[in-house]
Amino acid sequence: MSQEQWTEVDRYFTDHLVPSDGALDAALAASDAAGLSPINVAPNQGKLLHLLARIQGARSVLEFGTLGGYSTIWLARALPADGRLVSLEADPQAADVARANLARAGLDKIAEVRTGAALDTLPLLEAERVGPFDLVFIDADKPNNPHYLEWALKLTRPGSVIIVDNVVRNGEVVDPDSQDPRVQGTRALFELIAERPQLSATALQTVGSKGYDGFVIAHVLG
Ligand code: SAH
Ligand code: DHB
Ligand code: MG
Repeated sequence: MSQEQWTEVDRYFTDHLVPSDGALDAALAASDAAGLSPINVAPNQGKLLHLLARIQGARSVLEFGTLGGYSTIWLARALPADGRLVSLEADPQAADVARANLARAGLDKIAEVRTGAALDTLPLLEAERVGPFDLVFIDADKPNNPHYLEWALKLTRPGSVIIVDNVVRNGEVVDPDSQDPRVQGTRALFELIAERPQLSATALQTVGSKGYDGFVIAHVLG
């Protein structure tokens, strides 16, 4: 199996099931023009996030790692008109690109981007009593994943869903001796989930246009 095949199958799925769309295309074009790395979720992955939010009946979403707001648009579009999405982004330039992309998509009333390292902006979010969030998408700097999970638990309720991106990384996740702090952050995340009885979770390996990677999906129990 090759990357070309994975990409071709993703294209086939996307052509049939994930129609292209002006606001999403413009968001990617603006992100590219601003020099942001193309590490957004793939279209069919964005649609998965959207469907999970819909199935969950989510009215509020918290996202860690906005980049140009591509996944943000998919998630915000799953919310009702009075829904709310907060996305946390450390890079001020990316945050500006994302705000413009959200405005172009007509989602600026629903979705806000907070600039700053997530661990710095989360205490204010907590103090404002925004939330509890119905769905959390963790997709920022991987070394902090265990901290982000702790925060996600603080800012959710029984019934909330927590999704984490990039938990496979070409299979590196199984290497206990990995020198990569991103891999160690993800391994620490799995250990934390395993020791939390209030989380019912699974993880899936995926291949596609974004290579070989995967997601954690967790349900917060009562
Ligand atoms: N969710 C996006 C992709 C996010 S890429 C999508 O799929 O479209 C990861 C993002 O996390 C980058 O934009 C990076 O700047 C941001 N990031 C890195 N460290 C961060 C931190 N400490 N706090 C918040 N965001 C961070
Ligand atoms: C990287 C980050 C991501 O969120 C992703 O989906 C792919 C790659 C990265 O930091 O390289
Ligand atoms: Mg990611």
